[in-house]
Amino acid sequence: KIVGYIMDDGEVEDVDVQSNGIDYKDHQLLRITPKTKKQVRILQELKNSEPDDVKFWTLPAKDKITDLLVSPGILSDVKEYLRQKKINYLILISDLQRVIKSQNPRMPKERRQDLYSNQGHTMTWKRYHRYDDIMGYLDYLAEKFPTLVEVQEIGSSFEGRALKILKVSTGANKNGEPKPSIWIDAGMHAREWISTAVATYIINQLVEKNANYTRLLDLTDWIIMPVANPDGYEFTHTNDRLWRKTRSTHESDSDDGDETRQATGILSMISHYTKWFFGSCEGVDPNRNFNIHWGEDKVGGASTDPCHDTYAGPSPFSEPETRAIANYIMRHKDTIKTYLTLHSYSQMLLVPWGFTRERPADFSHLMDIATKAKQAIAKVSGTEYRVGPAAELLYPTTGSSDDWAKAKAGIKHAYTMELRDRGAYGFLLPASQIVPTARETWAGVRVIARMAALAP
Ligand code: ARG
Ligand code: ZN
Repeated sequence: KIVGYIMDDGEVEDVDVQSNGIDYKDHQLLRITPKTKKQVRILQELKNSEPDDVKFWTLPAKDKITDLLVSPGILSDVKEYLRQKKINYLILISDLQRVIKSQNPRMPKERRQDLYSNQGHTMTWKRYHRYDDIMGYLDYLAEKFPTLVEVQEIGSSFEGRALKILKVSTGANKNGEPKPSIWIDAGMHAREWISTAVATYIINQLVEKNANYTRLLDLTDWIIMPVANPDGYEFTHTNDRLWRKTRSTHESDSDDGDETRQATGILSMISHYTKWFFGSCEGVDPNRNFNIHWGEDKVGGASTDPCHDTYAGPSPFSEPETRAIANYIMRHKDTIKTYLTLHSYSQMLLVPWGFTRERPADFSHLMDIATKAKQAIAKVSGTEYRVGPAAELLYPTTGSSDDWAKAKAGIKHAYTMELRDRGAYGFLLPASQIVPTARETWAGVRVIARMAALAP
């Protein structure tokens, strides 16, 4: 039996300023729950007219929570406008930069050196780590647990970073056949740091504490990709904490005529169009870039505008990151029984479909597993999840990975998990919540993995 290093939990470290390129001083996060279709339309217009100054953290939908980040320049105008339209709002965060500064404890050089000499890698679950720390941890595990772990490069990102997965397997089953496996990816959206931290925690549990999970490892193999969008992830550490997409550049080839922009700020409109016209808006939303009802505008939820956060890309699988995932999954679709993608935030366990409000034939089976996972999550420390079909519970989208995995790769159990929280910090979940979030998520993930592996 392989029993490994147990991570220490003892110490407290200094919290320090994390400096990022873009300063979000006095940017406010507002929460609106549109009550009518008309209010939804008003929010959508606001979204289209002020793409640079109003960022929607969750998309507007009737009776659904909509969180939007407003820049200080137009804050009073937006608030006045909402009052005029009789739309109520709450201020969730009054100065975003303050939250960014205190979110992630910094790691001094000497501390990194200490960690490296003491444990052979620089990972902890007390802070959000850079891409190099995480990849170093994967490589460390592959070397330390050669019979249990395999690290594989499945492609490289637009900027040339390795796209790595880690496989955990205790070998063939009793009959000498390969076991079913569960795929988990995280960090597809760059700013959703908690998803990546949770994925590395799951890896830590499965590998370094494998003795606790022998029955689970008898049932299923694991394939985990903790940083699905490394360029974006690094960009959130160095330039813009709120970056979501990949970092690719594409020729400006969209003739985006159908979007209405009634900009109140003429300067911001000019700057936006300039960027758009010269094709200088980077990045594609990987979760709109999969080849499943890609770009169908009657479904909605994806943008044809390269400057938007939900830009679907110039073509399906235009991104090396989504291509690498799809190619790998397609090559292993006969053994992958579960596809799980980790996102944040909202505390939801989403079941297909996202591209339609119709339900897959095995919907109740998928819901049954999700409901049991939700209960397991709540049992850990009371965190409440909601469970339901993505298009209904959240909003419809095209080109999303869960839908692609189920419809195109034929992976029966396809889920999206939106981790903590419900908007108190949103994407800026403090590092102190990594371990509690990871513990409850791991409880839910184990239920999904076990029930899916046992399903006929
Ligand atoms: N927050 C995720 C996104 O917007 C959720 C995707 C859920 N899945 C879906 N098929 N709609 O990308
Ligand atoms: Zn996401």
